[in-house]
Amino acid sequence: MRRVALCLFFFSVCLVFNTGCGTRQTILDTDSHNGFSDAVQLFQTNCESCHGDNLQGGIGPSLQHVGSSLTLDQIEHQINVGGGPMPGYGPTNQAILTTQQIHTLAVWLSSKK
Ligand code: HEC
Repeated sequence: MRRVALCLFFFSVCLVFNTGCGTRQTILDTDSHNGFSDAVQLFQTNCESCHGDNLQGGIGPSLQHVGSSLTLDQIEHQINVGGGPMPGYGPTNQAILTTQQIHTLAVWLSSKK
């Protein structure tokens, strides 16, 4: 009986603090607390559906190490004009995001080495 009570206790502690215990901490979770909350929020609204909540990719490629393969300028360009199924978010394309928002996203993504 005590064992069951102890189990229940630890289970509820896990639920309350939501750490470990099978719930995975995504890159977005971590970075939203690491000074990139604006970028993460923009990403969740506009990009996560194709690039994943852990930048793991899906319809679009993984962005987990995009900072090693593309420069800041190249990332900004990609977000601006898109490519294939990815829409162009820039003011001269679909104007979904401002130049400043694109820059915020690109600075964050280029830190993904
Ligand atoms: C509809 C799905 C879709 C959405 C939404 C989307 N992307 Fe993409 N993304 C893609 C696809 C597909 C590619 C590959 C395009 C290509 O090869 O030309 C891509 C490529 C990229 C690349 C280049 C990756 C590389 O390694 O070459 C970056 C950076 C990127 N996306 C960032 C973003 C950001 C930031 C957003 C949100 C503002 C976003 N994407 C929204 C589908 C999407």
